[in-house]
Amino acid sequence: MSELIAVIGGTGLYSMMDGFEMTRQEIVSTPYGEASSPLVFGTLQGREVVFIARHGFTHRLPPHQVNYRANIWMLKKAQVSKILSVNAVGGINPQCPPESLAIPDQIIDYSYGREHTFYAEDLERVVHIDFTYPYTPELRKTLLTAGENMDLQLLQSATYGCTQGPRLETAAEVKKLQRDGCDLIGMTGMPEAALARELSMQYASIAIVANWAAGLTGEELSMEQIELHLQHGMEKVNKLIAETVRLGA
Ligand code: HPA
Repeated sequence: MSELIAVIGGTGLYSMMDGFEMTRQEIVSTPYGEASSPLVFGTLQGREVVFIARHGFTHRLPPHQVNYRANIWMLKKAQVSKILSVNAVGGINPQCPPESLAIPDQIIDYSYGREHTFYAEDLERVVHIDFTYPYTPELRKTLLTAGENMDLQLLQSATYGCTQGPRLETAAEVKKLQRDGCDLIGMTGMPEAALARELSMQYASIAIVANWAAGLTGEELSMEQIELHLQHGMEKVNKLIAETVRLGA
């Protein structure tokens, strides 16, 4: 039996992926409240795939208000074992220009005040998950192989810094993140990755660079530019997801 794979779509992925044929939608109630969107089941490359929109289908949820616990719990309940997460980011590393894609392998979490664990209350014992390698190596490998098959350039290793948002960073904050070793900055990578690990689900991210991080070019950041870059990058992301699913991720 092939395992059920989910795609958590980020900014720019509100419409369904190319080649994705929807079969049904399901609204699931969770002990953690409302998830961002219904589960959207369908087929892609002949396989069943389930899709959710992290920010809601009308993009109503800013990153700090996404109910990450409800989303991950809902996917677990639907028997999902693997998650491909799409995350918009700003590029710090010179190898991460706008519209490029990266498959991060590390995270530094600067977010705060988010419900970040399933192990918060009513515990029989305290649980500390191993999070040394926050993204599942096998799933990352499949993404990288899919990229190779398509001659798609992917940055193969990157540290993702998760900021709180919804505002973008100051130039000084970006310098600090750079000193810390971040290659990319986004607002949605955490606590999602950790919650998936808590529920023993495989999880990997496709980071899509929307802009150079604040202060790196000397110009102000414009939402129009960011959206345009995301739109172009998303065309590659769609193809990468299809090939990853075809490989049997
Ligand atoms: N910073 C944080 N999150 C982002 C950015 C950024 O520059 N671009 C897209 N998501």
